[in-house]
Parts: sequence; structure tokens; C-alpha cells
Amino acid sequence: MIKLDDFSSFFVANWKLNGNFQFIDQFISKLSLPKDRSKCVVICPSSIHLDYISKHKIGFYVGSQNVSQHKEGAFTGEISAESLSDLNVSFCIVGHSERRQIFYEKDEDINLKSANLIANKLIPIVCVGETLEQKEKGITNQVLAKQLKASIPNSSNFGNTIIAYEPVWAIGTGLTPTIEEINNTHHFLKNHNPKFNNYKILYGGSVKSNNVKDIISLSNVDGALIGGASLNSDEFTKIIED
Ligand code: 13P
Repeated sequence: MIKLDDFSSFFVANWKLNGNFQFIDQFISKLSLPKDRSKCVVICPSSIHLDYISKHKIGFYVGSQNVSQHKEGAFTGEISAESLSDLNVSFCIVGHSERRQIFYEKDEDINLKSANLIANKLIPIVCVGETLEQKEKGITNQVLAKQLKASIPNSSNFGNTIIAYEPVWAIGTGLTPTIEEINNTHHFLKNHNPKFNNYKILYGGSVKSNNVKDIISLSNVDGALIGGASLNSDEFTKIIED
């Protein structure tokens, strides 16, 4: 299993339902990785491209965007944590808001998925985030604490799990919380329960090359989860550059 403490920061590209073999070849040939090897770069392509990108990767890690909550059995179309570990996959995003909203994933499913990943020595990147309505009601912290409590399994600790804070309203919109709001929310996530004191917490939601430095330099932020901007190799190179 990857030793998370070996890294100072994490940059995780979530390609969502984008990319094909030609795109991957071009992306890898143009990507320039940071000289600072303490920056951990992870690319999460669609499941069908995991094997290909694992075999062609140079200097970055590979992550899945999802995994089944079931270990094996009659679950047509599902992908198990064990089969991800057969490929050279080290990380897996779980509980992304698109999975929660479009595919009705519950905290309990995310908990099982994370436990299966940990048992197979993969690092779950567990996503939490409030909707705009919840933000406007002033219940962001309550929502996040509840999501974390229910979706982080007992076997999780700061060495085998990453948390990603992605405000739902900031995803793909160009909107972000203020720098101060991001730092405060991450401070809350790390300190509301001693269990989470040392967890790595990434920020996601409209991260671009022109805001990443400000976000990453915050004391409570350990990296970024990047959607749209990770699909352009020049832009992603700028995001991860030293
Ligand atoms: P954007 O960077 O496109 O806002 O997406 C964020 C995200 O959903 C990453 O998981």
C-alpha cells in the first residue's frame, strides 16, 4: 500500500466519463510531472481504461472512480476491489457527489466500498460535500460530519484513507468557496472528531491553474481533486507544477 505520509500533497485527476485510448496516449506524452517527488499525482480514468493507463503510466499513480460495495457474486456489471488490486490501481474515489445524486449511493454503500478497498490495500478517497441549499441553510458542518461518520469504515485511519471535500455547488460551475471558507471547513473536518486529526484532506470543485496555488498553500489542505481542468494536459501540468 502507498505510504501517504511520504507525500506532501496530492493532485488527483478525475476524468469522469471522458477519454479514449488516443486521448490517453496524447495526454501522457504531453504531461510534465513535477520535479518535487513529494507531490503525489493520481489519474482516475474510466474503469475500461484502468488497465491500459496502468501499463502506460510514468511517474504517476492510477485511481479508479468507483468500486462495488460487494466483494463478489451475482452483481452484473460491478467491479470488485479485489479486481482493482489485480491491476496496478492504488487509489479509488468513493462517494463522489455525482454517484450520490445520480446513482443514489448512500453513506452505508460508501462505507462498505471503502472497507473493501482498505482490505485490498487500495486507498479510498472518500468524498463529502454540501449542496447549495444546505450551505444557504448554514448546515454545512453538520452535513459533512454526518457524511463522514457514516461513510468512513472502522478499519479506516489516516494512513489508509484520504478525504476529499467537494462542495456540490462548486463542481463544474467555476464557483468556489472563498480561500478562508475552504480553510475553515477543512479545519472543521480535521478537528470535529480526534479520529480525523491527521487525515489528508483534499479540496475539489472548480480547481484550475489560476486558483490551485492559493488553495494548496492553506495549512489544512493537503491536495486537490480536479475534474474538468484535469482533461487538458497543459492545464493539468500547470496545476501540478512546482
Ligand atoms: P471540476 O474540477 O470540474 O469542478 O470537478 C470537480 C470534481 O468533481 C472532481 O471530482
